[in-house]
Amino acid sequence: MPRNLTFNIFRYNPQDPASVPHMDTFVLGETDSMTLFIALGRIREEQDPSLQFDFCCRAGVCGSCAMVINGRPGLACNTKVKDLPAEITLLPLPFFKLVGDLSVDTGTWFREMYQRVESWVHTERVFDPAQEEERMDNDTANRIYELDRCIECGCCIAACGTARMRKDFLGAAGLNRLARFLIDPRDQRTEREYFELIGNDQGIFGCMGLLACEDVCPKRLPLQDQLGFLRRKMALSVLPWKK
Ligand code: SF4
Ligand code: F3S
Ligand code: FES
Repeated sequence: MPRNLTFNIFRYNPQDPASVPHMDTFVLGETDSMTLFIALGRIREEQDPSLQFDFCCRAGVCGSCAMVINGRPGLACNTKVKDLPAEITLLPLPFFKLVGDLSVDTGTWFREMYQRVESWVHTERVFDPAQEEERMDNDTANRIYELDRCIECGCCIAACGTARMRKDFLGAAGLNRLARFLIDPRDQRTEREYFELIGNDQGIFGCMGLLACEDVCPKRLPLQDQLGFLRRKMALSVLPWKK
């Protein structure tokens, strides 16, 4: 028997001085294989064309549809309503700047974070298209690939109590990014350069081990492993670098 779903959705348009934050309620009949993204699309088409939310890929790849679903950050496009109760509350991700309703600006935060951690391979090597790049061993390439799967959805930041208290905290996504370059043998940054980035309260010392980041990551990135890895690197810094 298909259920009638009740959606309580946060509404606010910061661009409109007359807008006041409030919740709106919409009722929708459940259909087979309905995702939250499909439900929101139908609400917008059939009931309220002004409803704002973001999406692009609809396949859990672009990270743009993250929101708080019944109290937990997640992706609207890969959340099936059959896994949720009949009453569903949707809020925008906290921490990020609100664009309107369920839409937030994660891009500005991620761009600034990538600039802070200098998210590129630092090397003196001059690119020569005629010369093949030295082959990386498979285990290292797989480890890097695993960490490169971050889709910048912002769920780990929205779920992190430290990030909520400390706006300049790099968060699990930022520390994951640094771990990714730390294990990359092409990156020639020195121990001191890495420690200046992570050895402070904005970096690994700010993390209080709350663990919510890994719990909510829709790509199941091994974020706790990276936080432990960075802590060990700091602790073992007297030993030869990049062991
Ligand atoms: Fe999203 Fe996971 Fe990347 Fe955090 S680490 S931004 S939760 S994909
Ligand atoms: Fe935050 Fe994850 Fe650390 S939730 S405090 S980054 S363990
Ligand atoms: Fe791209 Fe959901 S629409 S991850």
